[in-house]
Amino acid sequence: MTPAENYEKMYRRSIDDREAFWGEQAELIYWHKPFERVLNYDKPPFVRWFEGGLTNICYNAVDRHVAERGDQIAIAWVSTEVNERRNITYRDLYTQVNEMASLLKELGIESGDRVLIYLPMIPEAIVAMMACVRIGAVHSVVFGGFASLALASRIDDASPKLVITADAGMRGGKVTPYKPLLLEGLNAVTVERPKVLVINRGLDSNPCPIAGEIDFATAMGPHRGKIVDPEWVESSHPSYILYTSGTTGRPKGVQRDTGGHMVAMRQSMKYIYNVGPGEVMFAGSDIGWVVGHSYIVYAPLLTGATTILYEGLPIRPDPGIWWSLVAEYRINCLFTSPTAIRLLKKTGADWIHAHDLSSLRTLFLAGEPLDKETHRWVTEALQGVPVVDNYWQTETGWPILTNFAGLGLMENKFGSPSKPAFGYETVLLDEHGVEIGVNTKGSLMVRPPLPPGCMTTVWGDDDRFVKTYFSTAKELLYATFDYAIYDDDGYYFIMGRNDDVINVAGHRLGTREVEEALCTHPAVAEAAAVGIHDELKGQEIEAFVVLMANVAVPSEDELKAVVARQIGAIARPKFMHVVQGLPKTRSGKVIRRAILAIAEGRDPGELPTIEDGKMLEVIRDAVEHRH
Ligand code: PRX
Repeated sequence: MTPAENYEKMYRRSIDDREAFWGEQAELIYWHKPFERVLNYDKPPFVRWFEGGLTNICYNAVDRHVAERGDQIAIAWVSTEVNERRNITYRDLYTQVNEMASLLKELGIESGDRVLIYLPMIPEAIVAMMACVRIGAVHSVVFGGFASLALASRIDDASPKLVITADAGMRGGKVTPYKPLLLEGLNAVTVERPKVLVINRGLDSNPCPIAGEIDFATAMGPHRGKIVDPEWVESSHPSYILYTSGTTGRPKGVQRDTGGHMVAMRQSMKYIYNVGPGEVMFAGSDIGWVVGHSYIVYAPLLTGATTILYEGLPIRPDPGIWWSLVAEYRINCLFTSPTAIRLLKKTGADWIHAHDLSSLRTLFLAGEPLDKETHRWVTEALQGVPVVDNYWQTETGWPILTNFAGLGLMENKFGSPSKPAFGYETVLLDEHGVEIGVNTKGSLMVRPPLPPGCMTTVWGDDDRFVKTYFSTAKELLYATFDYAIYDDDGYYFIMGRNDDVINVAGHRLGTREVEEALCTHPAVAEAAAVGIHDELKGQEIEAFVVLMANVAVPSEDELKAVVARQIGAIARPKFMHVVQGLPKTRSGKVIRRAILAIAEGRDPGELPTIEDGKMLEVIRDAVEHRH
């Protein structure tokens, strides 16, 4: 059988005989008590995978490997920021996770409680995630680049009992203190204030005290050598919440289960990423994003592989750093974003060729559209190592569309993330909600039940889950909010989002979040933000504000700084304008589509009835005077 035939056969079975297919995949993990039902889909669109099964993620990701591979490196930490390296074996990890779990218990954390993790890329972050799932607690990791407003809204939504943070992170050699941001966030929360546990790295010489904070090193003392039995939880017990952006300013808590999540991770490593026990994976992402959750932490550890945890930039101390790590750690699978590759492309292929890449089998890229040029360049630069585009979302946790290294790759087409992964019945709809076929652009949907590993609901808001994701078509279909097209061979091409989500360097942000951050400035009456095309980062933010009457005009830098302080540096607009007004419909809705077209130098085309036509000129004028 060719790889394509093999894929076709397995894919068909994953759709036509779902329960048999996933029932077999479930054997990849350890069940303390076997499940009674592979799939409970009695209440569409809600799914319960492996119902009745009892298991534990930490047991599967750590304990299970100690006997056979206790001396193997589980986490290889490399920091080019603090110039430090640490190898943590599965046996070390077992010890550290148990000790941290014991501390969590002392701090009153019980099964089902939430713990917010706001940490840089240090091993303690993974240890904390594992310690949470060991005792059945639900972690919510907040990206270290996020700031006070983003933190406050997540604390309010998850109401964690504990926040675990550090004194500081580092980026490009610069110390970024975490505690002042957390303190500002805590001062804004409306729920009960969580306890705060601080890992002091000694980076911030002027640490900002938080009332009642607990010092990690001191608190850990009595827990050295302690063992905490894993809490056996039902398969659908929530393992974590990860917030992501959507159309509204309020972030959505993507909730993942336990059993389905593990089965999805394991089978994706086997069939898609082609990484087995004892092999080495490096996902150049951040634990605060879904790629980090899945492919820095969960999938490699569940597999018994070695994961590289890298704190630093891909171009520092020089653009060869990642490739030197490939040679040194004998990395088999590398995963990153197209932006990182575009950044390396600017420095040239010599940095790649200087290193021994004989261990590297595949490079995977995801998170944003992979343009054909970059795909072609990196394929040539890697001299025979295949480069696989894979398309997915925070919501799904693993690829929706991909090629399958574990089956032997099918043909790879530049610009295409290939074909649907197992269990995803993909459908394209036109603007009237009618299913369309080959070579026609439409909205990409998935016919439920969603496969294992996908979000089970929006944290604390089942209604929002159904309304957001399953209410855009006449039939019950999951909306990805991306446009797509497929060709005669069934290869998909992603054509961008159809909602107000911006993708800056593979980081997902909502225009509403940026606008709400701008509106916290006392002089700002209203704001509009759009994502404009950018050669390097895919998209950049351009924002426009209208001021209150009789106020001092803030500088553009001041406005940009407000966004950076509230959301984080990644959301800092590239271009910022103070304008007299915004183009709106007669009913008062800002027409972002028109603003975006003008900002990208395109004709805004046909528009809904505009309140005041002059406002298009106002935007045009602002864009012409960018600086
Ligand atoms: O618009 C799609 C884009 O990123 C969105 C999901 O972002 P996030 O939730 O951060 O998850 C990233 C997981 C890799 C998608 O809705 N996107 C992601 N991968 C691709 C992509 N667009 C085009 N091609 C891709 N390979």
